Amino acid sequence: MNGEQRMNGDVATEGGGELILQAEHLYKSFAAPGGNRLGRSAQQAIVLDDVSLGVRRGETFGLVGESGCGKSTLARCLLRLLEPSGGRVLFDEVDLATLDRDALRAVRRRLQFVFQDPFASLDPRMSARAIVEEPLLVHGIGDRDERRRAAIEVLSEVGLTPEQAQRPPHAFSGGQRQRIGIARAFVLRPEVAILDEPISALDVSVQAQVLNLLRRLQLEHGLSYVFITHDLAVAEYFCDRVAVLYLGQVVELAERETLFRRPLHPYSFSLLSAVPVPALGGRERRVARPQLIGEVASLTERPAGCPFEPRCPVGRGREVCKRERPPLRELDARHWAACHFPGEVGLPPRAATPGARAERAIGVAPRPGASPAPLADTMADEPPNGESDADAAPAGEVSHQGLGQ
Ligand SMILES: Nc1ncnc2c1ncn2[C@@H]1O[C@H](COP(=O)(O)OP(=O)(O)OP(=O)(O)O)[C@@H](O)[C@H]1O
Ligand code: SF4
Ligand SMILES: [Mg+2]
Repeated sequence: MNGEQRMNGDVATEGGGELILQAEHLYKSFAAPGGNRLGRSAQQAIVLDDVSLGVRRGETFGLVGESGCGKSTLARCLLRLLEPSGGRVLFDEVDLATLDRDALRAVRRRLQFVFQDPFASLDPRMSARAIVEEPLLVHGIGDRDERRRAAIEVLSEVGLTPEQAQRPPHAFSGGQRQRIGIARAFVLRPEVAILDEPISALDVSVQAQVLNLLRRLQLEHGLSYVFITHDLAVAEYFCDRVAVLYLGQVVELAERETLFRRPLHPYSFSLLSAVPVPALGGRERRVARPQLIGEVASLTERPAGCPFEPRCPVGRGREVCKRERPPLRELDARHWAACHFPGEVGLPPRAATPGARAERAIGVAPRPGASPAPLADTMADEPPNGESDADAAPAGEVSHQGLGQ
């Protein structure tokens, strides 16, 4: 451990690459139901509680945690679609709060969002081409012909033909619809894309194709991603660094391999322990739900000490855990955790080699030198028009074939 431990706010300035997007001591609260119409007497539900993190250029930064822990709220605050209650968001070192409308709009061009649900987020009355063209129109980019060409080009990058571009969203499969959502976000050629559960609404086999597509686009365009997922197998496969959120706080943050090899926070440990490995040749899939006792504490009555204490196998009932909130500290090189007793948990019961669990769970081709993994047998998400939705996946990528198709 470091003699001089760096604390929460320093996370945003940690070394290891140029930071493109930073959150510094971010807070977000909502008036809880039950107050008067002005919300004055209402209790505040604190959804983000002192979140600091920094996304490096070109990396995929994962945000994981249980439902309701604040992942989407954080994403929306990073984009300033939601006004934070406190703290700062910096994009390319500029505090977004200092920008006027025009300047913020210019930043939004460089910072795009892909929604979880490709069904709900696309206007059913528009063609795929018009949906993708729209952001160009909003930002006043190009004339009509140029916008059309740009839309067709980016649709082709995500694997859709000019003929398909004329169709409305309901004429596409789920995976193809998510491709349209990605094309819409990428047509502005952003530097950062915030991907809020971009594959969770998709069939397993199509998830693999969309992940491959995202990775290809990232490599081709040097993009940075904030990748939100509740699926740890996907985080382990796809992310470079991962922050674990619990009750609106970052409780652990580390490089992917470090976190999955040796989680220091009991909550991360519980999450990792809950990633089931699919049965050999079976249809079973992993569901990343931690098997934890007790309920998540209320957002309006947060514990004075550690928010995880009521459920923690290590600290439950321990005085210091009940009394003092542990700060997020750098405990090993670039490995941060907020815990009074970090590392007092053993290795996850299924911990094989890092990555093996993810390869098995999402059907990626084994890495060179690794023994072949059992593959999940899953149903394909066939496009309604019977066209293939598959990408060719080189070794090491998530593979459609790898899923037993
Ligand atoms: N506009 C709002 N008003 C009041 N409460 C809100 C609002 N938006 C979010 N919340 C609350 O904030 C908490 C975190 O919500 P959020 O959507 O950020 O969670 P999440 O981690 O993205 O969950 P999921 O994995 O289910 O998408 C939830 O308890 C939610 O009810
Ligand atoms: S501080 Fe205590 S209660 Fe919180 S995670 Fe660590 S051991 Fe558990
Ligand atoms: Mg969410």
